[in-house]
Amino acid sequence: LEGAEFFHEFVEDIFPMSYPAATALAGHLQISQSTGPISVLDIAAGSGVWGVALAQASATVSVRAVDWAPVLDVTRRVTGRFGLSDRFELVGGDLLEADFGLGHTIATLGHILHSEGEARSKKLLSRVYESLSPGGKIVIAEMVPDTGRSGPTFPLLFAVNMLVNTDSGDTFPFDEMKSWLHDAGFVNPYTLEGPGPSPLLIANKPV
Ligand SMILES: C[S@@+](CC[C@H](N)C(=O)[O-])C[C@H]1O[C@@H](n2cnc3c(N)ncnc32)[C@H](O)[C@@H]1O
Repeated sequence: LEGAEFFHEFVEDIFPMSYPAATALAGHLQISQSTGPISVLDIAAGSGVWGVALAQASATVSVRAVDWAPVLDVTRRVTGRFGLSDRFELVGGDLLEADFGLGHTIATLGHILHSEGEARSKKLLSRVYESLSPGGKIVIAEMVPDTGRSGPTFPLLFAVNMLVNTDSGDTFPFDEMKSWLHDAGFVNPYTLEGPGPSPLLIANKPV
């Protein structure tokens, strides 16, 4: 798997890009005040950064991390370094085939929709919807251009990167991703400003 080889080298390097935003997300979701168990589905986990920050916020959090099997070596190493190995379950496979399990409270999709492209992203959102509990939350981290794609520069440059290096990758404005979320059944989408490259997009599965 050529992609898996590429990401094996890359995902640990980009841990610092998302750790501050993932920590802010844990605060926003008030994870540290939770009493019952919280099950996190970390989609395209890579280093495991999203699950790591949520798991650090409370001992009630357990994480199911999904990525291509060879990349899970990195997830295993990084979560081990944080002393969180026993809180993580690692599941290998392509995102449209891997077993996501059921009954998750939160699903994180960190920097994956841009390489999946529109058609696969829509299927992925439906699979995530099925795996969440009623009232569960989906969280999308992306580099997001304005509606009309006139800026900002970084998401536009990133879209060129995707055009050159992937079959159907792109960057997508919030209103496009919101309409996909709506089509998959999610409600009440909103953005959360934070310390990442773009705000996070969050929505709910109806209760
Ligand atoms: C840009 S990295 C993001 C990692 C992490 N979520 C983050 O935000 O830093 C994308 C991850 O998705 C994984 N990935 C990409 N396409 C995939 C696919 N079709 N099936 C499974 N994993 C995939 C890669 O191996 C990589 O770990």
